[in-house]
Amino acid sequence: MKKTIPEISGRKDKPGAPKITMLTAYDYPGALLADRAEMDMILVGDSLGMVVLGYESTVSVTMEEMLHHAKAVRRGTKEAVLIGDMPFGSFNTPSEGVSNAVRFMKEAGMDGVKLEGGVNQAEIARAIVQAGIPVIGHIGLLPQLVSQMGGFKVQGRDAKTAQKLIDDALALQEAGCFAILMEAMPDRLAAHITAKLHVPTIGIGAGAGCDGQVLVFHDLLGLYDRFTPKFAKKYADAYGIILSALQDYKTEVLNGQFPGPEHSFTIKDEVLNQLY
Ligand code: KIV
Repeated sequence: MKKTIPEISGRKDKPGAPKITMLTAYDYPGALLADRAEMDMILVGDSLGMVVLGYESTVSVTMEEMLHHAKAVRRGTKEAVLIGDMPFGSFNTPSEGVSNAVRFMKEAGMDGVKLEGGVNQAEIARAIVQAGIPVIGHIGLLPQLVSQMGGFKVQGRDAKTAQKLIDDALALQEAGCFAILMEAMPDRLAAHITAKLHVPTIGIGAGAGCDGQVLVFHDLLGLYDRFTPKFAKKYADAYGIILSALQDYKTEVLNGQFPGPEHSFTIKDEVLNQLY
């Protein structure tokens, strides 16, 4: 059955309700798997730029690239709520933010969007919500601002920056976001923010006190060989499994083991004889 945003965000106040599960996906097979694993939400994250397109950061990702991949994810998803990630530079003004969020909904069939930024982006989030599009806010480590933040660093470790994150979360909630994603911050700060909000929080590197969790598909599967953040648990070594399958294929071609009779098509002798 198709999952819904009201059911997912309504779990916040329900005692004993299950945590929210979210995973990124960027293509049709990834979406099929995430949906089959019954994720509540699938995020077409702009991490696409790093784990699929091979960019150095998420800054280069364009709206066209996001839409291309979001459409493939849509085709592979039946039940999960689909969220499109607004790439860097796609929401510089409220009207630009609204038109690009509308593109995610109309062209790629997303159910909502996510955007990075706190107090500074609250007005843009509000405009998108007012246009009828569900929004997830994203605070803490903001990969799109990695140069400004001085690298992929944990946020909110001192009283001033911790207070800023609280203000960010409250501003986004007030703007109408239906959930807040919190990236790379101390677990007790994230739990404190979670308790202060009436909308659910979804953590990545924000500890167990959030209302839900999200991971990047390639981190979870061990598919991204360049770097795995401390907070990403690797549930499989898909890189190793795939590499060894590719090496086996090459070896079998070289030594004549592949293709065998079971992978080949036959022709009747009399047909062949006519050719000779
Ligand atoms: O783009 C992405 O994958 C994200 C993660 C924080 C989940 O935003």
